[in-house]
Amino acid sequence: MSFDLETIRSQFPALADTDNGEARIYFDNPAGTQVPARVVDRMADCMLHANANLGGKFRTSDLADAIVAEAHAAMADFLNAESPDEIIFGQNMTTITLHVSRSIGRTLKAGDEIILSRMDHDANVQPWVLLARDLDLTVRWLPFDKGTFEFDLRRLGDLLNDRSRLVCVGGASNLTGTINDITTISSMAREVGALTYIDAVQSAPHLAIDVQAIGCDFLVCSAYKFFGPHQGILWGRRDVMERLEPYKVRPAPDTLPGCFETGTQSHEGMAGTAAVVDYFAWIGETMAAGHHETNSAFSGRRRHVHAALNYLLEYEHMLSQRLVDGLQQIAGVTIQGITSGDAMMRRVPTVSFTHAELAPATIAHALAARNIFVWSGHNYALEAAKCLGIFDSGGAVRIGPVHYNSIDEVDQVLSALEDIVSGS
Ligand SMILES: Cc1ncc(COP(=O)(O)O)c(C=O)c1O
Repeated sequence: MSFDLETIRSQFPALADTDNGEARIYFDNPAGTQVPARVVDRMADCMLHANANLGGKFRTSDLADAIVAEAHAAMADFLNAESPDEIIFGQNMTTITLHVSRSIGRTLKAGDEIILSRMDHDANVQPWVLLARDLDLTVRWLPFDKGTFEFDLRRLGDLLNDRSRLVCVGGASNLTGTINDITTISSMAREVGALTYIDAVQSAPHLAIDVQAIGCDFLVCSAYKFFGPHQGILWGRRDVMERLEPYKVRPAPDTLPGCFETGTQSHEGMAGTAAVVDYFAWIGETMAAGHHETNSAFSGRRRHVHAALNYLLEYEHMLSQRLVDGLQQIAGVTIQGITSGDAMMRRVPTVSFTHAELAPATIAHALAARNIFVWSGHNYALEAAKCLGIFDSGGAVRIGPVHYNSIDEVDQVLSALEDIVSGS
């Protein structure tokens, strides 16, 4: 495929930064991505020229109102929500989940069952474990297969029954990189009347999200993982959200979305989030014509955004393949995730690995010394790290390319790793 990486990279000032003349290689993306200049410009514009609280009868307040409305509309396009009112902004995914779990808990009673996954980030585990503790709910655990790194959905079938109320799973794992079949999971949950809460924090940077097609009830993501500012976003199906009691102060709105948006929000975060959606739309419009047809059910920005993500994913598959193939050539390396070439479509490019002798933190530090940024550890995927038997040995090294990374950068990290493990 032809991919204009130079134009893409020119959007991100941080990619040109150097330290003592050495380029930075950002593979820490699953923990947070760099941002295009337009995101910062819109955030600065918001703070410099539209800095007021909402609902006033004066110019800056009108401008702030417009920014907030536009951010909800932009995220509705990003997720294919029916209405911008179904978009709830909050500090981050974890805070939103802890908050909305309280409202969801009001609909549950002792003995009800919730299904949590052994693959998920703790932000989609512990809020529900705490809720279960408080309400005397039963937690059922959905395991994943340690050989395939995927869920066996027959196991989900075994867990679901007429007491199941909620299924919480991730769109993609932040440790193994596995993409989960959240459409089938949502449909299986729906069949027994259970709601689905999808953690899309790690899928949103890579996959076009269509909440209508997925058929879930809640979906959460974080803009700082998809090239935007530190900002959490929840989509909730309107009829489900309207049945929940929002935990709010009395003067706050009683209607969506304001009833779930606690306190004064980060207007600049919302401005930046709308700008990153426009960044995707720009890619869709200028580079992803080949994907317009497959997204013909959408129009305008929604179509462009979805086409962009489909287009970027094709490029990311090349990065995944190169990284996985290269890691497999390095002595002592075990990839903790999908490796088979014909299964690349079932993983995001986030690739974690362990080494027979070197601790993950040792490898991450050695890469940092070469100005290559990666994370090591369990990365909050506690259950997954424990299941994989890597929790007590320092977790894994996680290399997470995104669409602004190059094949050359992948080759550089591979060559650096060769040197590190051979002790040269
Ligand atoms: C899969 C996943 N879910 C949830 C979170 C938590 O997101 P936030 O930092 O927005 O609370 C993360 C953060 O790394 C994540 O990777």
